Amino acid sequence: MVEVVSISMSNEIAVVTIDNPPVNAMAQDVRAGLKRAFVELRTRNDIKAIVIGGKGRTFVAGADIKEFDSGIAPPGYHEVLGLIEDSACPVVAAVHGTALGGGMEIALASHYRVAHEAARFGLPELTLGIIPGAGGTQRLPRLIPLEAAVELMLSSKPMPAAKARELGLVDAMVTGDIIEGGIAFARELVARGAGPRRTRDLAVRGAENAAVLLAAKRVQVAKTMRNRQSPLGLLDALQAAVTLPFAQGLKAESAISEKLVPATEARALRHLFFAEREVRKIPGLSADVKPRPVTRVGIIGAGTMGGGISMCYANAGVPVTIVDATQAALDRGMATIRKNYERSVARGSLKQEQLEHRMQLVTPTLDYAALGNADLVIEAVFENMALKKDIFAKLDAVLRKGAVIGTNTSTLDIDEIAAVTTRPEDVVGLHFFSPANVMQLLEIVQAKRTAPDVLVTALETAKQIKKIGVVAKVCYGFIGNRMMDPYAREAEHCLLEGATPEQVDGALERFGMAMGILAVFDLAGVDIGYLTRLERKHLLPDDPTFYRPDTMLNERGWLGQKTGRGFYRYDSARKRIPDPEVVEMLWKEGKRLGVERRQPGEKEIQERCLYAMINEGARLLDEGIALRASDIDVVYTSGYGFPRYRGGPMFYADTVGLKTICERILEFRRTLDARYWEPAPLLEKLALAGSSFAAWSAGRGD
Ligand code: CAA
Repeated sequence: MVEVVSISMSNEIAVVTIDNPPVNAMAQDVRAGLKRAFVELRTRNDIKAIVIGGKGRTFVAGADIKEFDSGIAPPGYHEVLGLIEDSACPVVAAVHGTALGGGMEIALASHYRVAHEAARFGLPELTLGIIPGAGGTQRLPRLIPLEAAVELMLSSKPMPAAKARELGLVDAMVTGDIIEGGIAFARELVARGAGPRRTRDLAVRGAENAAVLLAAKRVQVAKTMRNRQSPLGLLDALQAAVTLPFAQGLKAESAISEKLVPATEARALRHLFFAEREVRKIPGLSADVKPRPVTRVGIIGAGTMGGGISMCYANAGVPVTIVDATQAALDRGMATIRKNYERSVARGSLKQEQLEHRMQLVTPTLDYAALGNADLVIEAVFENMALKKDIFAKLDAVLRKGAVIGTNTSTLDIDEIAAVTTRPEDVVGLHFFSPANVMQLLEIVQAKRTAPDVLVTALETAKQIKKIGVVAKVCYGFIGNRMMDPYAREAEHCLLEGATPEQVDGALERFGMAMGILAVFDLAGVDIGYLTRLERKHLLPDDPTFYRPDTMLNERGWLGQKTGRGFYRYDSARKRIPDPEVVEMLWKEGKRLGVERRQPGEKEIQERCLYAMINEGARLLDEGIALRASDIDVVYTSGYGFPRYRGGPMFYADTVGLKTICERILEFRRTLDARYWEPAPLLEKLALAGSSFAAWSAGRGD
């Protein structure tokens, strides 16, 4: 059996190596191995210094996140890190890859740190709803200035080795082999006669300004991280670092940490951590199915979506050919891409040379024949079946055998589009979200005949362009937009009942949605939903109140931000301003249509919108459109602004309790329009059984 922690010798230097693939997570056996190693090393007098390093692609990526639910088995983090810090001979952490969370805390408890130039250091615990619980909040501000420490932890963004060196965290940089570099540094220490340099003995850097700094951060966090506990817990722990002796500070950190780990916020964020990785695993798909390589991409349509998707590939270093019907459309598209990149240069997130390089990767053309050697072509023109069919027929004629053909449709039947080609097995839905170069989500739609390796290619290309790909089956709206439909229906109906747009959006935003749905419609264009509803008129309920506010705004040309008014008015800075005219118009219309003026309160608005969405999610699971409840959660948190700290709609439903939700839906069936409030069979079944979506998913073995 391979030892997860081993000791080797390089003359009088001991090298402790952690080997726990894939990311050297600090699981119980790693902690036990480190304990054994440091207990053994302290008894040996042939050793002058110790180097700690990680085998494989990284140092240590942190605690084993799986362990948080079951409880931390001994030895605990403090015991192990205490042994490292207590060592009588100097300990050097030799960091390559990432030192994150508990990994960073090993480095902080070591006496010296050397880093590979590509290494990164971070304490991303807030992304998991917890705080660094192995001394990170107490040791880091003793090594780097408090302000920088607060920033690193609040942002959760790892910093590059060069920055860590500048701040005083890293003692030396290594260009070649990291372990050799660590040994060389340790030899120098021995030669200099340098002993241990324990972080706990240092004073907090910048403690004199701590009160002002931490108070300002509390105000900031209350605004930008609303409804969350862990950022406040972090600031409390830092306060303890400044005001208490080290040992007591550690105790305060532990007490805060112990409260946060089992709380809903942390459970929700852990759920998403694994859910976002689970999406790549498709039940029933053999591991032998390999993706087709994607080294050259074609995009049809140089509009907003096509341009954004082209940028995704150019950013990943993949050459892109964009085809459009007119030179003017191509010129406009290329100019927009350049403008977007220029904005990044102005912000400092991109260098001018990178801009030029990315622009060179994008080739505009009017000629479909230029796609002859593309591995993947993505059609991104507007939603029109006839147009898409025409394009797919053209692509079928020019693409090489084996090329994957994606369609960015958000509503149309992909089976029908695929049927115009001689190779429907190569066709897959690739539904991007606007702006495509920014939004994380990619809905991958598996049509009836999509080949397994095409599905795997779609998942792989999502990773290639740093997106989270979630697989759905074909239905109107797939996962995201289908659930959005009842959610927004309720939001709009509330307006006819006497709620104002600010009350509806406010209720949703205070729940945690990034933006209220009415403001989203104003941003995207109120006409978008209206036009798709016109096309599907024959399928919609015979209900004059259904999306009536949307229709009225369209009839008046009040299409949202682009026309200066929609559900709200907008000033020149696009700030939303309440519009009493719209409010009155909708109240009157409600009255005309015989809608009861019930003026729903905050809680009712939230329940109606969210429970309608969750109910639809249960139907998607029953119909097999979504593979897992957790996939729906990933779609909503990465593409629709659902608060991550609530875990996504289905996780949230489990925290409320399916029985409670089902009962409320039945009550709405009695008090509101009954046709919209039929509980989904799966929801009803689970509610009756006292079960949850999580238990149901687990029971299916997914
Ligand atoms: N615990 C358990 N499993 C982990 C893990 C962790 N800390 N980090 C990664 N994994 C698993 C993933 O689930 C994945 O498993 P599957 O292949 O079975 O899906 C596998 O390792 C590979 O991970 P990625 O697909 O994410 O690989 P990547 O190369 O894209 O990214 C990474 C690597 C940057 C390290 C990324 O995995 C990551 O950010 N991990 C989490 C880091 C983190 O948050 N650490 C802090 C933990 S909390 C803590 O440490 C508290 C404390 O104070 C002690």
